[in-house]
Amino acid sequence: MVNFISPEMNDLMNKQIVEELRSAYIYLGMAAWADREGLKGLANFMRTHAEQEEYVHAMKFVDYILEAGGKVEYGTIEKISTDWQDVETVLKEAISHEEHITSKIKDLMDLAKEKKEYYAYELLDWFNEEQMEEENLFTDLYDAYRLSGKNLLMWDRNITHPD
Ligand SMILES: [Fe+2]
Ligand SMILES: [Fe+2]
Repeated sequence: MVNFISPEMNDLMNKQIVEELRSAYIYLGMAAWADREGLKGLANFMRTHAEQEEYVHAMKFVDYILEAGGKVEYGTIEKISTDWQDVETVLKEAISHEEHITSKIKDLMDLAKEKKEYYAYELLDWFNEEQMEEENLFTDLYDAYRLSGKNLLMWDRNITHPD
């Protein structure tokens, strides 16, 4: 078996798997809330995002660890909320959650540079670019909400996820 991954990188990537699956969990929680509120567009967007983006992100780290000869571990994901105050709170939380993930990716990039793990760095560079897309995606959703004059029906029925 090859050994292309340092113990530190292996550990931080395992933690990032939890971060990505937790992202999926958070968005599923938001989808559950949106469903109860009759916001079908938002519910669909959040569920699609969890399944087609966040779950896939987690698996990219799983695949990398396996390919690099590391050990995959699945840590604990704590209970998340399915109770939200309103659309504004949900959207602002999604944006700040993505900012949090971006900072985690940057920590991984810093470690990759420090350890000279340039193959890992290449993967992380993809994630860094992906985070710019994700922050834009949620910011656009919030902007559309604001620009609709906070007309929930009009805004919700026009939501599409670029999957
Ligand atoms: Fe992600
Ligand atoms: Fe994300």
